[in-house]
Amino acid sequence: MQIATKLAPEVKEAIRETPLADTKRDLLRLARLDTEEQRQVAETVKTMIERGEVPKDLDTVKRELHHQKIAQKLQTVTEESPQWKLVCGDLADVEHEIEDASVDAIITDPPYPKEYLHTFELVAKVAARVLKPGGSLVTFVPHRYLPQILECMSRYLDYHWILAYVQPGASARIWDRYVHVGWKPVLWFTKGRYDKQMVYDVLYSDKRDKAYHEWGQSEGGTEELVTRFSQPGDLVLDPFLGGGTTAVVCVRSGRRFIGIDVDPTAIEKTRMRLAGLANRQDGENNALIRVEETPENREEMVSVGAAGELRLFSV
Ligand SMILES: C[S@@+](CC[C@H](N)C(=O)[O-])C[C@H]1O[C@@H](n2cnc3c(N)ncnc32)[C@H](O)[C@@H]1O
Repeated sequence: MQIATKLAPEVKEAIRETPLADTKRDLLRLARLDTEEQRQVAETVKTMIERGEVPKDLDTVKRELHHQKIAQKLQTVTEESPQWKLVCGDLADVEHEIEDASVDAIITDPPYPKEYLHTFELVAKVAARVLKPGGSLVTFVPHRYLPQILECMSRYLDYHWILAYVQPGASARIWDRYVHVGWKPVLWFTKGRYDKQMVYDVLYSDKRDKAYHEWGQSEGGTEELVTRFSQPGDLVLDPFLGGGTTAVVCVRSGRRFIGIDVDPTAIEKTRMRLAGLANRQDGENNALIRVEETPENREEMVSVGAAGELRLFSV
């Protein structure tokens, strides 16, 4: 096939200075796309270059295009059921979606790397506004930055306690601190005086689970947190959703839930997990919400395996 003649002029122009132009296999795949698909690829390449990213091959560009389509579909807010709501955006930009003094508990897990330290202060500030009086914020925190996190979060909330989260087989070695780690700290803050149920301060995760997010927590471990810090009917917020584990546990156990994540893929994954959960529970005559399958979302639906596990497939 004469590759050059099959490529639209705008595509040739867009990829001219990129590694795509030098890879025969990708050029061939591009030439096989129809005009509209080629136009979308060209637009995505231009956007990536404007953002200073290198479109290193066609798969990278297609992945980016897929994310853009999801983001477009989600816009900022996806309200999918009376029981739960997912919001796509930076917590700082979308916090207004949550009413003052409406949330019973915030159960969350911000990213650990140093560049995300500001998110701990951000969530504490938001919590001071959205938590009901006496409400709790519980958050996983990295050992390394405990002093800074305690200091910045205590500006907005009352430090209450620290819990130990123990995972089976988790035994990282932190060489620069000479520590063999066996547990994760979970900080507990409150908005004013706490006077609800007694809480045991050691949590056990059933397993490590990175199936839905590279930094994901297990459903079993998250369930320990959700049941200790909320009651059925309560409104729980997780503003750093990741793979949506808190969402799944909360909805399954009858909590109302708001989830936020800046990453559209995290929102979409959570939406799919919740859709699978709703359909499964409906089948068990224990309905939460029936999610209608349409020709459009069938392609994106999770498939539920015999053991009840959810398998995601991308579009
Ligand atoms: C550690 S992961 C959460 C994992 C989750 N607990 C699970 O089990 O899958 C943290 C998430 O926070 C999101 N995030 C980081 N900064 C954010 C921000 N400013 N606003 C909203 N989400 C943010 C990331 O996209 C990531 O998905």
